[in-house]
Amino acid sequence: MRIVVTGGRGDLGGRVVRELGARGHDAVPASRRTGVDLSTGDGVDAVLDGADAVVHAASSQTRPQSVDVAGARRLGESLRRLGSSAHVVSISIVGCDLVPYAYYRAKVDSERALEEAGIAATVVRATQFHSLAAFFGTAGRVGPLAFAIGDMRVQPVDIDWVAQRLCDHATGPAPSGFRRATDLAGPTAYTAGEMAALLAAHDGRRTPRVVRVPPFLPVLKGFSQGAILPGPDAKTGGRGFEEWLTTQPTPLPRRFRSPT
Ligand SMILES: NC(=O)c1ccc[n+]([C@@H]2O[C@H](COP(=O)([O-])OP(=O)(O)OC[C@H]3O[C@@H](n4cnc5c(N)ncnc54)[C@H](OP(=O)(O)O)[C@@H]3O)[C@@H](O)[C@H]2O)c1
Repeated sequence: MRIVVTGGRGDLGGRVVRELGARGHDAVPASRRTGVDLSTGDGVDAVLDGADAVVHAASSQTRPQSVDVAGARRLGESLRRLGSSAHVVSISIVGCDLVPYAYYRAKVDSERALEEAGIAATVVRATQFHSLAAFFGTAGRVGPLAFAIGDMRVQPVDIDWVAQRLCDHATGPAPSGFRRATDLAGPTAYTAGEMAALLAAHDGRRTPRVVRVPPFLPVLKGFSQGAILPGPDAKTGGRGFEEWLTTQPTPLPRRFRSPT
């Protein structure tokens, strides 16, 4: 199959491209680096022409309305213009509809844009990737203290496993219209204290003392109340956080992504 991967040079998209290639498909990365700009529409029709499926993994933390949302809309418009029945598989975030955070709102808008596009589309929500959970766990540490938002817990997931599930959707049967697939999560949920202890042990430091910050803003309340945890119907799998941590450098770099 010829499968276009938006954001195909990114953290998740790059893994999708490699996995599709390993499964014998023609995976085509589409992002500004390959001449495709979802904000302007440049190159979109050309890259989608002849595609059997699309994985939408392009994203911008700073301009999500123009990349994640308008990008999804552009994919739908382009496929309709081309008369294509290609199935679009898009990645979203567990609980994005429950937390009033601008980037999360954009993920909801992106889902809606695909729902309204009148094309075959599957939205797959996943929890935080291990690298992001570790980044926040590390960023919340100041000297011997680790700051925690209320009772917040995270259930991070293996990015490679998520990439594989996106590939399953893209290469499997397409729905007749829009569908929300089963949410994806890692096997274990952690409190901020547990996360801080794991990160400290990994770096060979003393376990920091956890200081609970009251969730005074609505966005923090959402995190504290478990909005980003998977529901009982979520599919869990992939390497757990602790196993992932054993593959990471010591000390763990304070970085957002895991380019491995
Ligand atoms: N990180 C997490 O914990 C997590 C959890 C659940 C879901 N997700 C979702 O996973 C997706 C991918 O995340 P990621 O961390 O892999 O992102 P990433 O590494 O930042 O990759 C995003 C890619 O989007 C491309 N892009 C940005 N602006 C573009 C534009 N105007 N037109 C076309 N492409 C553009 C960029 O490539 P160019 O610079 O070449 O354009 C970039 O490589 C996002 O939708 C995110 O919401 C992430």
